[in-house]
Amino acid sequence: MELSDEYLFKYKGIYFMSDVVTPDYLDSLEDFDIRDSDVFLVTYPKSGTVWTQNILSLIHYEGHRNGTEETDLLDRMPWLEYNVRNVDWSKRESPRLIASHLPYYLVPKGLRNGKGKVIYVLRNPKDVLVSYYNFSKFSRKLEETDFVLMEQFLDGKVLAGSWLDHVEGWSAHRDDFNILFLTYEELKKDLRSSVLKICNFLGKKLTEKEVDEVVDNATFDKMRKDRRANYKHLSSELVDHTRGGFLRKGVVGDWKNMMTVAQNERFNHVFKKRMEKLPFKFCWDMSLN
Ligand code: A3P
Repeated sequence: MELSDEYLFKYKGIYFMSDVVTPDYLDSLEDFDIRDSDVFLVTYPKSGTVWTQNILSLIHYEGHRNGTEETDLLDRMPWLEYNVRNVDWSKRESPRLIASHLPYYLVPKGLRNGKGKVIYVLRNPKDVLVSYYNFSKFSRKLEETDFVLMEQFLDGKVLAGSWLDHVEGWSAHRDDFNILFLTYEELKKDLRSSVLKICNFLGKKLTEKEVDEVVDNATFDKMRKDRRANYKHLSSELVDHTRGGFLRKGVVGDWKNMMTVAQNERFNHVFKKRMEKLPFKFCWDMSLN
């Protein structure tokens, strides 16, 4: 995750992948036409994006739920800023499901004015860091580093910028948006309740059986084997499939296996004060393997 001019560029304070987005395209997002029915999933990277993308897709597309639809997750819920499939957004049927890692101030104006819906998923930043680190080994677009990545992460010199800035920004501007905040840890603790919470927020009524199907298809074990929900189709130029999969461990508290006491102290030194002011509670120790 070392910053490299070749792969990352900075735009309005945030780092983006240079081969999949341009500053002009990012500029154009300000006027992106938001529909009331749009559903945005916003996350800081490695916080459970693909998991929630899959949940939303399972809630919305029966064909995915009952296994008859062979569409990649990336096509069911494309990325706003990384429009790698060149989606023509204006032609897309409602409700449009859209994923993004953007900070609150770079999302379309319409969204900031309360149109559409946003689901913001956040995760204990120590687990985010560990997941990031492992992802940097899987991705060929991020330079592999050892755990010195931690200093870059603490400094916000990583993809999508500083975790604290991202979370604080969205949290402080929550009243501007029609937004639901969820944590990775609560999804992990009680997936069914989280699915129901999402359905409730979206005004989507599913039968008990349908909810069971969503939950069943969103478990780590099921998703790990689900080609459509993985990045299995990505070429070996982009990722190294021999070095593990995108769905790695899927647990809460893996940071304890990775960070030394000194690293943990250093992390707390930078994060603790600002984190205490956030209106979110994280579960740091849950061990659900
Ligand atoms: P780990 O690297 O800790 O395993 P993102 O999609 O935002 O990049 O987040 C990736 C993280 O979400 C990875 O964490 C991945 O394993 C985890 N994840 C994906 N699907 C999951 C699921 N169904 N249950 C639990 N964790 C999941």
